[in-house]
Amino acid sequence: MSLHENFGSGNTDANPDLKPNDMVPTPRHIARQMIDFFTPALRTAVLNGKLTVLDPCRGTGAFYDQFPDFTLYGVHYNKEWCEITEGRDFFDWPYKVDWIITNPPYSIFPQFLEKCFEVADNVALLIPLAKLVSSLKRINMVMDYGGIVSMRIIGASKCGFPFGFPAAAIHMKRGYDGNTAIEMWPPTYEEE
Ligand SMILES: C[S@@+](CC[C@H](N)C(=O)[O-])C[C@H]1O[C@@H](n2cnc3c(N)ncnc32)[C@H](O)[C@@H]1O
Repeated sequence: MSLHENFGSGNTDANPDLKPNDMVPTPRHIARQMIDFFTPALRTAVLNGKLTVLDPCRGTGAFYDQFPDFTLYGVHYNKEWCEITEGRDFFDWPYKVDWIITNPPYSIFPQFLEKCFEVADNVALLIPLAKLVSSLKRINMVMDYGGIVSMRIIGASKCGFPFGFPAAAIHMKRGYDGNTAIEMWPPTYEEE
């Protein structure tokens, strides 16, 4: 059963006040590589029982379309999405999920991150690094949630981002108190 049965009208006439930097789609090969970083953890979660992965702002689906298919494991697995331009506002999302993986809208990043922490036990975001570390309040918010499991750093231009700051795939986990692995993004997959 989809969690969406009682959520979102799918109204494509939705007219949100979006900023240009909120609409930057992730190149599909970068999204696929980022999903691959977390696939072993996703597989373990599936094998341990129920797993729901949410892209809370799927845009044209670079992440959502490429979430792995675990149907072979024969256990309950859901992939879900929101996208405000299609009438599904993430701020109205009512359920808990196991993972969020996405590239979020930047102009509302603090509120978006707060909502991610409210609903998900693992949050993996592709974001300009500065978005997370430029505010002590935000760093405290991350530490109160748990902590940062890993950061893989990549030049923004490789992600097609229209700014010069380095970006990173950052995995935050509820209740996490281990070390943070910081490494450079491995060689990127070929562009499709
Ligand atoms: C930076 S784009 C990334 C899109 C997609 N995740 C990707 O990686 O290609 C951010 C997306 O967030 C969507 N968005 C902005 N505010 C939203 C909200 N409140 N709920 C759901 N989606 C939202 C935008 O329409 C846009 O598609």
